[in-house]
Amino acid sequence: MAFEKIKIRSYDWEIDKVRVEDLERGCEVGPAEHVFLFTDTMGDPISRIRNSPMYNMLVAELNDEIIGVIQGSIKVVTLHTSPKNHLAKVGYILGLRVAPRHRRKGIALSLVHHMEEWFISHQVEYAYMATEKDNQASINLFVNKLGYLEFRTPVILVHPVYNRSFRLSSSVEIMKLKVDQAEFLYRKFMSSTEFFPHDINRVLRNKLSLGTWVAYFRRGDHESPSGGFGLDGGIPNSWAMMSVWRSTEVIKLRVGKPTLSCMFYAKSSRMLESVLPCFRVPSLPDFSENPFGFYFIYGFHREGPSSGKLVRTLCRFVHNLARESDGKDECKVIVTEVGGCDELKLHIPHWKLLSCPEDLWCIKALKFYEDAKTTLGNEAPPPKSNPLFVDPREV
Ligand SMILES: CC(C)(COP(=O)(O)OP(=O)(O)OC[C@H]1O[C@@H](n2cnc3c(N)ncnc32)[C@H](O)[C@@H]1OP(=O)(O)O)[C@@H](O)C(=O)NCCC(=O)NCCS
Repeated sequence: MAFEKIKIRSYDWEIDKVRVEDLERGCEVGPAEHVFLFTDTMGDPISRIRNSPMYNMLVAELNDEIIGVIQGSIKVVTLHTSPKNHLAKVGYILGLRVAPRHRRKGIALSLVHHMEEWFISHQVEYAYMATEKDNQASINLFVNKLGYLEFRTPVILVHPVYNRSFRLSSSVEIMKLKVDQAEFLYRKFMSSTEFFPHDINRVLRNKLSLGTWVAYFRRGDHESPSGGFGLDGGIPNSWAMMSVWRSTEVIKLRVGKPTLSCMFYAKSSRMLESVLPCFRVPSLPDFSENPFGFYFIYGFHREGPSSGKLVRTLCRFVHNLARESDGKDECKVIVTEVGGCDELKLHIPHWKLLSCPEDLWCIKALKFYEDAKTTLGNEAPPPKSNPLFVDPREV
């Protein structure tokens, strides 16, 4: 094959959509050994970047065939390695795929270089990407070939939506915030969290954001706050907050390789539920009906000695929200992603079989900013237990 014939250009919805989807199907990514979730863009290849402030998708074309794709988005976030005011313009690389019969010819390398050039032309200081920790091809490409540094190892936690609602603790009050209140609290309490998006107002006002809720104890070590939670200074000692993203509208999931135990438990729990409803065995959804929707919980924050219980209650609340929306959103799982060593994960109910214990984020300072490169190379990485803000627009 003559390498010169490969053309890298911007994605054109009208002529590329179907061919890109075919390519995606031929390149499904996931760990080989256990159950995993595939994403399905439901006929819109750019659904994963569409909600970002600035985005781009490139295709590699050879003789009218699309043989590779890559997507990228740009935003401003808090970055602990950034030299300037902790705010940095970052470019996120995702959706890199090369057709199996065209691999090991340098196409991925070339696509990433083109995306990095696009980032640099928009004054992006750092490029980053996420991959499964056992995707050796991807790690070799980014870390060994392109000089990215392994950076964070968040966990993706997945909980199925049962056919029954959870009973919520009567000692916990859950309150939905107005968007202004939510923005105020996020800026006040989370703006120094790594990867906190500077345009949080746009995230919260996006039509996919279902809302932000706080939880606090009805009685105990404090007075219940008034309806102006936060804005009037009234914040209890123990409280927790999170927001919910209706991912189901842009992307769906499919179970890739259900293990026997998973399928067996799902089937037997449904059977028990119908035969002996008095036992109230929570029955699992039928994952074989693919694809299905999900809600993504983002922006977890908690304070105070008993806030773990509040986090658990909020998760159950979201579960019930998803269950009640069934039919409309076809929501079969709740997903969230938090820092790998963040103690928060201990309080988030999840199902190990579907969760990913170690996602890997890699980062690179782009040549445009030599001072950024120096900072990244010299600074000790922040403690692994530091919280991480996972932007729902990038899920
Ligand atoms: C990962 C992927 C994009 C690589 O595409 P590619 O065009 O074959 O990659 P390149 O030819 O540009 O390879 C560049 C370097 O990456 C590394 N690499 C690529 N494929 C590899 C493999 N299968 N095993 C080990 N290293 C690999 C090598 O270091 C390679 O350099 P070399 O060929 O000189 O040894 C492709 O395998 C793919 O589409 N996989 C499925 C989707 C996926 O995993 N995407 C990445 C998600 S972040």
